[in-house]
Amino acid sequence: MSVEYTKKDVSDFWNEASCGESLYLEHSNKEGFESHSQIRYKLEPYILPFADFEKAKNKKVLEIGVGLGADHQKFAEAGAELTGIDLTERAVAYTKHRLKLQGLQSNLGQGDAENLSFPNNTFDVVYSWGVLHHSPDTPKAVLEVLRVLKPGGVAKVMIYHKYSMVGVMLWIRYALLKFKPFLSLNYIYAQYLESPGTKAYTINEAKELFSKFKKVNIKTVLTHGDLLTSHAGQKHQGLFLSLARLIWPRWFIRYFLKDNGLFMLIEAHK
Ligand SMILES: C[S@@+](CC[C@H](N)C(=O)[O-])C[C@H]1O[C@@H](n2cnc3c(N)ncnc32)[C@H](O)[C@@H]1O
Repeated sequence: MSVEYTKKDVSDFWNEASCGESLYLEHSNKEGFESHSQIRYKLEPYILPFADFEKAKNKKVLEIGVGLGADHQKFAEAGAELTGIDLTERAVAYTKHRLKLQGLQSNLGQGDAENLSFPNNTFDVVYSWGVLHHSPDTPKAVLEVLRVLKPGGVAKVMIYHKYSMVGVMLWIRYALLKFKPFLSLNYIYAQYLESPGTKAYTINEAKELFSKFKKVNIKTVLTHGDLLTSHAGQKHQGLFLSLARLIWPRWFIRYFLKDNGLFMLIEAHK
């Protein structure tokens, strides 16, 4: 079963609440944003070595899909020559406000990953965490990343990994327990993970997506979602989750299924 989703479906979803807003942002003041960052890097510690914010000093960096702006703030603090876009007004407003409170600079505006408004060969680094799989034409967005990178530049992109424990959980909840075991993982991610039409990729599909880059490194990480060690996201609450939290075999997953995490970290060189 396949369903078509539009970019408006995606922006409507993220305009209701930016990523993490309802769970991790109590106040949009300095303390509120500080606390949001603390929670974020505690839950997702692998962001720090992957993004390597300090290395961005004096580099031209584009972040696609800034969301609440925690990573954007880190790039600004590191001294990057910074540009950021997001599909939604809400995320741009949050990130502008967040940086202003800290006296930090970035060229921020609404924009679409699939149609970047920047000339070819502009940026040293293009960074995008958990964004491109939400856009209806992800391959087009990846080609745009390649286009705006300078030769020798690097793209650091996180997209979702298909064979993940989160995928297993969603499939049990929305396919097996509803007596619809024929529903595909692609359909389940598109319907039930986050914004309508969200996609997840196998390693080989990700290699294909980034095949026009010169050199590509891909690794997956187990997330707090795969291990059920946190709130499960703004769409997921209820009895099934409470039960799953009690019986989830975390040590088994950590030991035997460590390659089945939801996040796929891709470093691609132009
Ligand atoms: C899951 S959030 C991630 C936000 C942030 N990077 C983070 O890690 O918290 C996804 C973000 O991608 C943005 N987004 C989705 N499609 C986009 C597109 N085509 N162009 C730019 N931003 C997009 C959404 O508006 C949303 O803010």
